[in-house]
Amino acid sequence: MAASPRAFVLRHTRLRPVPGLEEVRLHLAGEVLPLWRAVQLETNDPHADLPYWAFAWVGGLAIGRYLREHPEVVAGRRVFDLASGSGLCALAAMHAGAADATASDIDPCAAASIALNARENGCRVAVVRRDVLDEAPPDSDVILAGDCWYDAGLAGRVLPWLRQARDRGIDVLVGDPGRRYLPTAELVELASYEVRTTTELEDLDRSQGRVFALRPA
Ligand SMILES: C[S@@+](CC[C@H](N)C(=O)[O-])C[C@H]1O[C@@H](n2cnc3c(N)ncnc32)[C@H](O)[C@@H]1O
Repeated sequence: MAASPRAFVLRHTRLRPVPGLEEVRLHLAGEVLPLWRAVQLETNDPHADLPYWAFAWVGGLAIGRYLREHPEVVAGRRVFDLASGSGLCALAAMHAGAADATASDIDPCAAASIALNARENGCRVAVVRRDVLDEAPPDSDVILAGDCWYDAGLAGRVLPWLRQARDRGIDVLVGDPGRRYLPTAELVELASYEVRTTTELEDLDRSQGRVFALRPA
């Protein structure tokens, strides 16, 4: 990337409150396709990933709503936000009283976006840019996984990793609208919220976001 990821995020987003979760403010984009094109040009990679980090996804929005209603799930606890994108779930956890939060994402712009968003929210969030799915789950109390089930390859790696975390006694929360690779048989639904999203990403501007725990082994 020619520009620094931080400069790129700042150039292509605007800081705004998250619809339905206004206590969290994120650097968000309005349109996906022009931004995706800008990422492809900037990285010189026609196969560059979507700029996930520039949007609040349905799964993350649902987790945010759940943590607002149930702060005791994270209050005073160590939280790890897998596939963090903008940092949405980590920031919602910090607003709910988490002791600390770590956000992981493999996209350099996501890492820059999380750092910028943490600062704007007055929260400290540690950022991990390596692929943690190749490692044992982190030493944390709660893992949040917002909108991770959109891709077969990723879904196939996330599930065993989350199982491993659960088996070590870590609470796992999954947020998702019911995407194709969601492993429903392994999940117990905890709550469901109508969330405001954008037709830039979804077919409707409102979507049902659901929050799940991983079924005990
Ligand atoms: C659909 S976005 C969800 C973002 C956020 N959790 C939310 O709900 O708004 C999925 C994110 O997963 C990230 N991702 C993909 N593979 C990953 C991996 N192996 N480790 C960490 N993050 C990954 C992508 O870069 C992207 O930011």
